[in-house]
Amino acid sequence: MAACCVFLGSIILAIILLIFFYPPGLPKVSLSSLTVTKFNSTGDHISGYLNMQFQVLNPNLVTDFFYHDVNCSVYHDKDHLASTMSPGFVHPARETRQISVTVHLTPGTTARGIGDDLATYDFTDFDVKLTISVVRVR
Ligand SMILES: *[C@@H]1O[C@H](CO)[C@@H](O)[C@H](O)[C@H]1NC(C)=O
Ligand SMILES: *[C@@H]1O[C@H](CO)[C@@H](O)[C@H](O)[C@H]1NC(C)=O
Repeated sequence: MAACCVFLGSIILAIILLIFFYPPGLPKVSLSSLTVTKFNSTGDHISGYLNMQFQVLNPNLVTDFFYHDVNCSVYHDKDHLASTMSPGFVHPARETRQISVTVHLTPGTTARGIGDDLATYDFTDFDVKLTISVVRVR
């Protein structure tokens, strides 16, 4: 009986140790919506606003994160078009948070080749990079 309790106790202890000391999983980020407003283009010069919503999941059972400033950068091919910083926040364990970012492409922003894309295909690709430095709170 006592041996059985010790055995069960050590399993429970192992699970607790695993939960608290297992390396935390990274936040999972997905882009849930993207809209473009006031878009204007003349050749390879563009302007407008990219409005994005990201969903960020903290997959951990007990680890809270603190995010420092969030840097959202937009690229077309290799051209860096613009960046927007948003304030950091605390992201509790198991929760999903929305990050809303608007990136302003100021008039005269150069995206080489975009004029051809739009003339030929009527669409173009942007790359979006979200950079967040994460501190583990708990
Ligand atoms: C679009 O851009 C062109 C050239 O930069 C400018 O002349 C025009 O006024 C702009 N149109 C709008 C609606 O902003
Ligand atoms: C955000 O990231 C871009 C691309 O890496 C960089 O050029 C820019 O300086 C960054 N902004 C800040 C405020 O760190």
